[in-house]
Amino acid sequence: MSILKNIFPSIDQIPKQWKLDGFIEQREYLVNGELKIWDGPMNEVVSPVSLRNGNGIEKNIIGSTPLLTEKESLEALDAAVIAYNNGTGIWPTMSIIKRIAHVENFLLEMKKQRTAVVKLLMWEIGKNLPDSEKEFDRTCVYIEDTIKELKNLDHRNSKFENEEGIIAQIRRVPMGVALCMGPYNYPLNETFTTLIPALIMGNTVVFKPAKYGVLFIKPLLNVFKDCFPKGVINIIYGRGRETVGVLMETGKIDVFAFIGTNKGASDIKKLHPKPHRLRSVLGLDAKNPAIILPDADIDITVNEALAGSLSFNGQRCTALKIIFVHENIAGSFIQKFTTAVATLKCGMPWEEGVKITPLPEPGKTDYLTGLVNDAKQFGAFIINENGGIVNDTFFYPAVLYPVNEKMRVYTEEQFGPVVPIVPYKNMEDVVNYIVQSNFGQQLSIFGKDPKTIGHLIDELANQVGRININTQCQRGPDVYPFNGRKDSAEGTLSVADALRAFSIRILIATKDNAVNKEIVQTIVREHQSNYLRLDYIF
Ligand code: G3H
Repeated sequence: MSILKNIFPSIDQIPKQWKLDGFIEQREYLVNGELKIWDGPMNEVVSPVSLRNGNGIEKNIIGSTPLLTEKESLEALDAAVIAYNNGTGIWPTMSIIKRIAHVENFLLEMKKQRTAVVKLLMWEIGKNLPDSEKEFDRTCVYIEDTIKELKNLDHRNSKFENEEGIIAQIRRVPMGVALCMGPYNYPLNETFTTLIPALIMGNTVVFKPAKYGVLFIKPLLNVFKDCFPKGVINIIYGRGRETVGVLMETGKIDVFAFIGTNKGASDIKKLHPKPHRLRSVLGLDAKNPAIILPDADIDITVNEALAGSLSFNGQRCTALKIIFVHENIAGSFIQKFTTAVATLKCGMPWEEGVKITPLPEPGKTDYLTGLVNDAKQFGAFIINENGGIVNDTFFYPAVLYPVNEKMRVYTEEQFGPVVPIVPYKNMEDVVNYIVQSNFGQQLSIFGKDPKTIGHLIDELANQVGRININTQCQRGPDVYPFNGRKDSAEGTLSVADALRAFSIRILIATKDNAVNKEIVQTIVREHQSNYLRLDYIF
């Protein structure tokens, strides 16, 4: 009997607290401070959690969202453009302390929606309960840290410089209108790590939710509407090609914040008629390798490689997507690794201890099966029991060994529960793989010898944005810089860097003489400017 035969629940097996209250028809979208009701075509939201009935497995349609057209999309942009008003609008000129108050209020109200958001994350993207809760809580902490960091930034800038007879104060001001788009794997967290910095720095925003993970915005729509002045945040739904391309073509987008594929980002970016006016903040594809040295501690390595490759079914941009293991240690590593994979509990997102859950992308299990078959054709084996078994949207993790350069999985980002393991003899081959790769986000080195690890760090430091030692790849802690080289990213995100990414410096300068000093001092003393000032935000 297949391990996945009874994986999906029947309707009465769903715990009461996680049951949805019927079909969620979400027709509202937010433009210019108003929740408008869409009466046109809708997009079905299909849950990865299929349902079992007497006849087998049935597709589970849990709701629908608007398929807006160019017209509504452009209305949203107009609202953002008017609210920004060439930098003279209420929001971009508002004092930092007041903008912070708006965001604090938003956070307070957002926290009240935790259960509703967490429940929808589980149903829409199949993320397990602890990870869905973590995504929500981490986002709240990120917002709190952003507020703290903005205060620090303001404190650091609340001073005058005096160089070569020029007195100056340097502050950071918004860029303009930002288009923010997040990914389906972290539809709340990764979207808000651009959306909130964009807003708090005084930009106005058009936000389009990810492809999957859309309904969970519903409980937050009113919160957005009530916590920000009209036009500051506009939320649209629909297909990218109908709603986003047209925005970019207007040339009125100043910042493009996008987490997704590099192809998607390039297609949208190149539509902007004045490329130098567009700043891009992009988190893109990755194929992060683990390098296991012959002296690696097997237990530590197995634990980290397991979490690194299979947390949230491998659907993390930072996931370990290829494992290079030295041939001397390959036997013991794969034996312990496959044993560890077998302990991962499969099930529905709300089940206690569940690690492997159904996949939200339509056609994903077929794609992964194709990758596995391709690898088998070139000499790889599925080395774990049940590996690659499929039931509807569920794919049991497949560990492939030995993987080589002829296989698609060697270079393609699988973004799912397939773990390719490549045995190596010469480190040169591994280094060469990394140098030649189109991606350059992170890598992990597992080993004990400081000399070998130190040497490897020096060889690879110019290839990726982060090197992890005996530790899986990851984005956090969020105060650390998160970036990538080549096709993996554009710009750097961290709590502090994001504030910089969505702002530009303004210098207010004057020649150092008695008249100018008196003018500046009077402006400061009498609080005549929101920019030229010396006050302290507590
Ligand atoms: O999908 C990419 C995420 O930024 C990864 O974040 O490493 O904390 O899971 P994480």
